Amino acid sequence: MPQILPSLLAADFGHLADQIAQVEAGGATILHLDVMDGHFVPNLSFGLPVISAVRKASRSLLDVHLMITDPDRYLGAFRDAGADHILVHQEACPHLDRTLNEIRRLGAKPGVVLNPATPLGTIEHVLEVADIVLLMSVNPGFGGQQFIPYVLDKVKSLKQVRVNKGLDFTIEIDGGISTGNVASVVQAGVDWLVAGSSVFGSADPTATVRKMQQLAAQSGDQLLA
Ligand code: DX5
Ligand code: ZN
Repeated sequence: MPQILPSLLAADFGHLADQIAQVEAGGATILHLDVMDGHFVPNLSFGLPVISAVRKASRSLLDVHLMITDPDRYLGAFRDAGADHILVHQEACPHLDRTLNEIRRLGAKPGVVLNPATPLGTIEHVLEVADIVLLMSVNPGFGGQQFIPYVLDKVKSLKQVRVNKGLDFTIEIDGGISTGNVASVVQAGVDWLVAGSSVFGSADPTATVRKMQQLAAQSGDQLLA
């Protein structure tokens, strides 16, 4: 069943534990955490201490999206901080096969991320090493941006590649997801939908996650029908 992953980037950091409890009450079981270094992307967010704090405040799985240069230096530290999934950008990893294997060796699920402009072909040969493929539907660095529609074609192609290769990696999408596009994204083939500002910017994050989760489930059922 498709899942909504609230992105804590848009949460109120003064009340992080409460915000986490709110989205978990709406049915979230995986939290998305955006680490930015002001170098790979033109913004800074948070790092290891915040991930450790979230780990203590939540029993959800932690999906850690590294938007940093040279992520290899920090893989062990993010795993120790509590990351269950570690996602690295293809654009930041010259030795992607090694990096993904190292994440698995550390005991986390390895994920590879593609910016909107990066072709699927750049990860074709490492797909069997990845548990998660995250397609960015905005240019990474900021919450609250508009969804880029051509990424839906990329999702469809990736789903077809998964069938052709007989693999079972999870397809994740990140950026500009709201109640208005959940259905089309799931119908294109996405399994996990990251949502930041549409969840935490809403009046009732619990109800919003529940609503998005319902929309995703309905669209998922239509795919099976
Ligand atoms: C953007 C981040 C996203 C961000 C999504 O660089 O990777 O995870 O939190 O935010 P929204 O859902 O507001 O587009
Ligand atoms: Zn992200």
